[in-house]
Amino acid sequence: MDRKQNVMNDTLRNSLYQLVMLGRSISIDRLRYHYCKMKGVPYFGTYMAARQGWADRYVAMDKLIREELQKYRGLAYQVLEVGSWAGGSAIIWGKALVEDKRAGNRLVCVDPWKFYATPSDLSLGTRLMKSGFKNDGIYRLFRHNTRCSQIQDNLIELRGASAEILPMLAPNQFQLVYVDGNHSYRFVKEDLKASGVLVADGGILCGDDLELQMEEIDVAFARAAGDKDFIRDPKLEKWFHPGVALGVGEYFGRRVSQKCGFWAMRKMGNQWVDVVQS
Ligand SMILES: C[S@@+](CC[C@H](N)C(=O)[O-])C[C@H]1O[C@@H](n2cnc3c(N)ncnc32)[C@H](O)[C@@H]1O
Repeated sequence: MDRKQNVMNDTLRNSLYQLVMLGRSISIDRLRYHYCKMKGVPYFGTYMAARQGWADRYVAMDKLIREELQKYRGLAYQVLEVGSWAGGSAIIWGKALVEDKRAGNRLVCVDPWKFYATPSDLSLGTRLMKSGFKNDGIYRLFRHNTRCSQIQDNLIELRGASAEILPMLAPNQFQLVYVDGNHSYRFVKEDLKASGVLVADGGILCGDDLELQMEEIDVAFARAAGDKDFIRDPKLEKWFHPGVALGVGEYFGRRVSQKCGFWAMRKMGNQWVDVVQS
């Protein structure tokens, strides 16, 4: 056997080992899921890919909303979230709104909680997420997690696709809109267009998964990826969400302010300006 074949065998063995270990950890985590449900505590583990966000992004989101709430002089602060999954990001917004104590503070979550990946995107991540739709599992987990986190009194769920729901909402009513729905280019583009008009003057439009900005990527390569959720730029050797990079880049027509993939821009009249955090 030559050296090349040995390397291939090692790679294959390594991948198989990682798959087996992942399978095991998901089975063990399934027990933790049942335990959390029984105990009435939130669950964000690997089962149903419940944990979606990165810890450092959640920190940046929490910091942003708390700073905004401190500056805000209105009677009630309204947040719209597009794409909630098991409630990880919703709980960040929700807890800040509850702790702020203004009576009318509201978090509106829009999500169909229905399988949405296209056949061209059957990555391990989307396969794991697919398991969450069995018996409405992920929607039930969203309700469990938000209830256990005591944000349900400030929460309105609108179950359905953003394309149907966002146009029904009144313009300029949200102080913060967070876009983290379907990451395919055409959806990101439509979500941003429909969300931008919902942001009040001085408010924030933000979103997740901007690992690379449009000016940094090979645009033709990203477009050729079609509906693929997550790809690796061969020149930069970095993984990124092509739909988010293209959609955000086209909507704003320039670089946006961002921190570890969490991006945010402020609406000032008919312009979008960078969000400067302390
Ligand atoms: C990346 S996950 C959201 C993760 C969540 N924000 C968090 O941090 O835990 C993407 C979500 O978008 C939702 N989604 C997919 N298509 C959608 C659509 N057309 N409108 C609204 N939400 C959609 C999915 O059901 C899924 O819950």
